[in-house]
Amino acid sequence: MKYINKKLKIEGVSVENIAKKYGTPSYCYSFNKLKENIKDFKKNFKSFSPLICFAIKSNTNVNLIREIKKFGLGADVVSMGELMIAIKAGINPKKIVFSGIGKTSKEISFAIDKKILLINAESESEIREIDRIAKLKKKKIQVGIRLNPNTDAKTLSQISTGKKENKFGVNEKSFITLVNYCKKSRNIDLKCLSVHIGSQILNYKPYEKMLKIISKIIKKINFKFEYIDLGGGMGISYNFKNEKLNYQKYNFAIIKFLKSHPSKIIFEPGRCIVGNTGILVSKVIYIKKSEKKNFIILDAGMNDLMRPALYGAEHKILPSIMKNQNSKKIYEFVGPICESTDKFITLKNFKKLEEKDLVTICDVGAYGMSLSSNYNIRPKSAELLIKGSKIKVIRKRQSYKDLI
Ligand code: LLP
Repeated sequence: MKYINKKLKIEGVSVENIAKKYGTPSYCYSFNKLKENIKDFKKNFKSFSPLICFAIKSNTNVNLIREIKKFGLGADVVSMGELMIAIKAGINPKKIVFSGIGKTSKEISFAIDKKILLINAESESEIREIDRIAKLKKKKIQVGIRLNPNTDAKTLSQISTGKKENKFGVNEKSFITLVNYCKKSRNIDLKCLSVHIGSQILNYKPYEKMLKIISKIIKKINFKFEYIDLGGGMGISYNFKNEKLNYQKYNFAIIKFLKSHPSKIIFEPGRCIVGNTGILVSKVIYIKKSEKKNFIILDAGMNDLMRPALYGAEHKILPSIMKNQNSKKIYEFVGPICESTDKFITLKNFKKLEEKDLVTICDVGAYGMSLSSNYNIRPKSAELLIKGSKIKVIRKRQSYKDLI
């Protein structure tokens, strides 16, 4: 995104034109940024050519997933719906892994029928259920077991998943029990050890620690896993500090691990593939002064972008036109929803704003639209894919007819 002649543009299209043609709020994704992210990810880990399974939960738009598929990525899914979307987007089932702690019998059965690469189980009960269903279908199913490595990912507590108090995976003792169970089963083919310690991880050290723990356990049980699924979690920069995970350091740690445990590495990245590709274009409905604050009331709310309300996450906001004058006021950017947590960010020295001006909420490509809802009976935004100066509607704005 750049200002050209003071107008904010995503690739070759101005935010103003997007709003004029497609209305607001609208999610827009940059195809070139997506391509750049995927290429960058592949380049950094190319020495061991991992299987990259895009975490569908981060962005569930079937047309966007179709673009991602064209770069050869597989998918990480956590529900039957996500599995259906991945298949609809044309992803080869042999590149799909199924994670999640609460897969129902119906979901397991569906995944088996679709012949996906791996079902990553997260409990003893789930392994038994996969075994039971596989036996009924007279099939041998490739599974992974998700280890909870008790590693602090040093990220927001709400998106941390690899500590022993988190509900995900199994601890070392159960892991060993489950490996032994799988070895004896005729219907389970144990192929993978999987982990995922959290999301928006900016420091490579928790990953390094996690690899050491996995290595120790594998040595102890002396089992050869064909796949090691390291999950996702690679963090991106949401502020102006330009922090992001150092892929190189993570890469070195993995290369070291592979020397003792030759195997195929699987990654499940979501945010670092799509996070910074997306913006949310929104219009200022009203500006309201109260005794203490100046509220900028946007037409996008927490139903459109939930991350600030849910995690206290901050997304940069930019004006669509770079006016000369900065405001001396402190603005609190809020949505129209009837909840006090429906606010995005508080900013000082923002460009002077007026009612009906447009603003852009940045870095919303991951967990933006996919976490949106119809709260307050608000139709979901349109989604647009921008390629150069071309705009493609990849999901129409919901209509009231869809809702009522
Ligand atoms: N694999 C598994 C098993 C996961 O649970 C997740 C994310 C991923 C992969 C992808 O993680 P990523 O590379 O995108 O960090 N809604 C939160 C994030 C929740 C992440 C849940 N699991 C947010 O808006 O920050």
